[in-house]
Amino acid sequence: MKSALIDKLNLVADGLADQGYAIIDGFLSPEEVQSILQLDGFQNGNSQFKKAGIGKHGDKQINESIRGDYILWVDRTSEGPAIQSYLSKLNELITFVNQNLFLSMKDYEVHMTIYPPGSYYNRHLDQFKKDDHRKLSVICYLNENWKEDEGGQLRIYLSDKHLDIFPMAGRLVCFRSDLLEHEVLRATRPRYSLTGWILDQHAELRHL
Ligand code: OGA
Ligand code: MN
Repeated sequence: MKSALIDKLNLVADGLADQGYAIIDGFLSPEEVQSILQLDGFQNGNSQFKKAGIGKHGDKQINESIRGDYILWVDRTSEGPAIQSYLSKLNELITFVNQNLFLSMKDYEVHMTIYPPGSYYNRHLDQFKKDDHRKLSVICYLNENWKEDEGGQLRIYLSDKHLDIFPMAGRLVCFRSDLLEHEVLRATRPRYSLTGWILDQHAELRHL
């Protein structure tokens, strides 16, 4: 593994162990961000994307008043090099936290995400009541030259305060899915990201 990546994974592991979250700038380079943004999915607006739902399987509902994002699940068998390179970093992250935090994470699931201007995701927890296999939430932002007055913060609720994280290109945020409530605030421009979860289960077992 390249040592630059190891340095970043160390920051992820330290942040998770010390505070339950980590924010890593430059997890993807500007070139990596560009090559992901140039994929058809992001280029065609959200025509291939589906309105995101809430809950799982039979409980799944679409509720505009809770979340307004559009998603396209990543299919690891058919993605090109731009996404594969990100997925291989997620695999390195799994190996790293397993070794360094003594976890037993097995897999990940990732979707591409677009929040149209004005959309948001209300305060929530990522772990489902009936499915607790999502252990770590991992989001990588793809928005070049984001300005703070454009909004779109990820707001993480800690015990005594909240933390606002802007969706800057290349920035990775990783946090405990079982522990940290969070929300996405409205933005004035489209907000692009890769949103994923590290699972303690193999992904192909999830939709059985
Ligand atoms: C989610 C989520 C946060 C973000 O998709 O569950 O909370 O910053 N996303 O996009
Ligand atoms: Mn969430």
